[in-house]
Amino acid sequence: MTNPIHNFTARLPGIVYGGDYNPDQWTRETWLEDAALMRQAGVRLVSVGVFSWSSLEPADGQLEFGWLDEVMDILHEHGISVNLSTPNAAPPPWLATEHPEVLPTNREGRKIAIGSRAHFCPSSAVYRERSQKIARALAERYGNHPALAMWHIGNEYHTQCFCDQCGARFRDWLLDRHGSLEVLNEHWGTTFWSQRYSDWSQVDLPKPVMGNVNPARELDFKRFSSELLLDCFREERDIMRAITPEIPVLTNFMRFFPGADYTRWAAEEDAVALDIYPNPADAESHITAAFNYDLMRSLKGGQPWLMMEQASSAVSQWPLNLVKKPGRMRLGSFQAIAHGADAVMFFQWRASRYGQEKFHSAMLPHSGTDTRTWQEVVDLGQELTQLEEIAGTTAEAAVAIVWDWENWWAMEGVAHPTKLSYVDIVTRHFTPLWRRNIATDVITLDADMSGYRLIVIPNSYVLSEAQAEQLSAYVRSGGHVLISFFSGVVDEHDRVIPGGYPGGLLSLIGGRVREFSPLPSDERVRVEMRGSETDAGLWQDDLVTDGATVLATYTDGYLEGEAAILRHELGDGVVTYLGTQLSETGMDRMLDTVLADAQVAAVLETPAGVEAVERHGPEGSYLFLLNHGQHSAEITVPPGAAELLSGRVAVVAGDTLTLEPAAVAVLKRDRQPVADSRA
Ligand code: GLA
Ligand code: ZN
Repeated sequence: MTNPIHNFTARLPGIVYGGDYNPDQWTRETWLEDAALMRQAGVRLVSVGVFSWSSLEPADGQLEFGWLDEVMDILHEHGISVNLSTPNAAPPPWLATEHPEVLPTNREGRKIAIGSRAHFCPSSAVYRERSQKIARALAERYGNHPALAMWHIGNEYHTQCFCDQCGARFRDWLLDRHGSLEVLNEHWGTTFWSQRYSDWSQVDLPKPVMGNVNPARELDFKRFSSELLLDCFREERDIMRAITPEIPVLTNFMRFFPGADYTRWAAEEDAVALDIYPNPADAESHITAAFNYDLMRSLKGGQPWLMMEQASSAVSQWPLNLVKKPGRMRLGSFQAIAHGADAVMFFQWRASRYGQEKFHSAMLPHSGTDTRTWQEVVDLGQELTQLEEIAGTTAEAAVAIVWDWENWWAMEGVAHPTKLSYVDIVTRHFTPLWRRNIATDVITLDADMSGYRLIVIPNSYVLSEAQAEQLSAYVRSGGHVLISFFSGVVDEHDRVIPGGYPGGLLSLIGGRVREFSPLPSDERVRVEMRGSETDAGLWQDDLVTDGATVLATYTDGYLEGEAAILRHELGDGVVTYLGTQLSETGMDRMLDTVLADAQVAAVLETPAGVEAVERHGPEGSYLFLLNHGQHSAEITVPPGAAELLSGRVAVVAGDTLTLEPAAVAVLKRDRQPVADSRA
């Protein structure tokens, strides 16, 4: 459980502004200039030391804290707080050369060399001992420093390793999970292709094999890898907590990252932090950003989170690095706040002169203060001071969408009927909610569902018995569920649930799937839905009803005349089951029906491209209007609201607000109830 004193906002009220700061790349003279410019930009928090191990400990046991002492003091004198990082993400060359076992091994068995970052084996006792030693030294030295605001453990944990040390840990983890070799054989279905293990020494990491690897083994490996990294995080967290019990501890997450189950990670840290780089070349990247923000907010039950890293303009990770056009950085920052972020931070404060990321934009670009980027950075810092009262408020959603790492790993498993992308499928379910300004939480099927009126379940291939039971109880007591094909197919060990498809959902959907079949990427089928036609692709279920009514029917193809979508009233609730992947317009119409059924309304209706999101607090509700489009938009705003950014006080009933492209408005109004079409 998170201790409330650990909430980072207790130490840093208001909306926090800042970025990664790498002073070891610069001279003392520059530090002084940096601190002065940070004040000018409204910076209140900097992440320091993320990659500083070789500067802090240039040789084994030789600690050099002098430079950091000075930096901490300078920052404090300028009223800037520090998110001090443990440097485990980039072990120094001496450690790897003196103890080669700290380096990781990739799946092909090749040892990874030094010269980049994240080159550590998470099982290495030497690595753990050394990274913890320097973490402890930092905690002891700076635990009482007045600039210290929080601990940042490592950076974007993502390493996977296939060395023998990891193999041994994998066996321990498997014994713990399955209880015995006998049960492991059963859960992994090792009778298939003669994989039965007769001794634990035969069990190993899923290294390259002749054909396809056993999917249950691969799934367990992914679970294990996430847990192994989490162990490293936890051990350092505990050191920091023991020395500074009052200081929040966290690490930074990545957007749509498959390598760590953040649902489990979030439970172990004091606040959630996200690094996100929406690509300006992708016209819809603000929609997937919204999804990631909702996920971050939901991971800790609505607690404010930190946008720990974003780019002020170009990043240096894509083959083509477009700049952010005027106003777009500001827009993206407000979007994160709208979805519950109480911190807007960047990678990084000052652009590096050298190294792998020298062309990554920064708050302070190579070209200095006479730049558009700098001006936008300073302006945003100023503006955020006007939004202090918003910090600590949160969203309230009547709808939840399911996102689950284990399901992600399993449903993209080997030799499935077709290649499915979980990110793509979830995005197709989230986008129509986003376009309608429906406030949405992101949960797993293990979460408490009682507060929601509608749960959207994009292809939940894995379904445990407990999850199926909870879902059924939720529906019977009045909940609405929209669930897509290839759901409820296997148990948590990736074994097909007996009794026919979808085994886990047979009692829920009011029908069954006789057979499912993928569609080639260029093949579409027609679907008739309440008198009008749409098309669908990717997948077709051969559905028969057993209690459900047919909402849509295939009108061509080999399933012509058969059901494509079922609607099943069960107890006081309703389950809608999609047996195919509807086109965007089809999905839009489907959502209209389901939302009306569940009596869920939009926060506000807005023209295309304009997003409306609301945060609620004791003082009132804050409606963010964000124009992601390329055209100015007219929005009829609710009565009695005041616009906080322009200082325009009264917005009267029926008033129209014009939002230029990339513009933002924040309307304060009386506290609103959760969006409800019955109200
Ligand atoms: C990540 C890392 C940073 C930096 C940025 C730049 O988020 O955490 O160290 O590499 O990306 O894209
Ligand atoms: Zn290893």
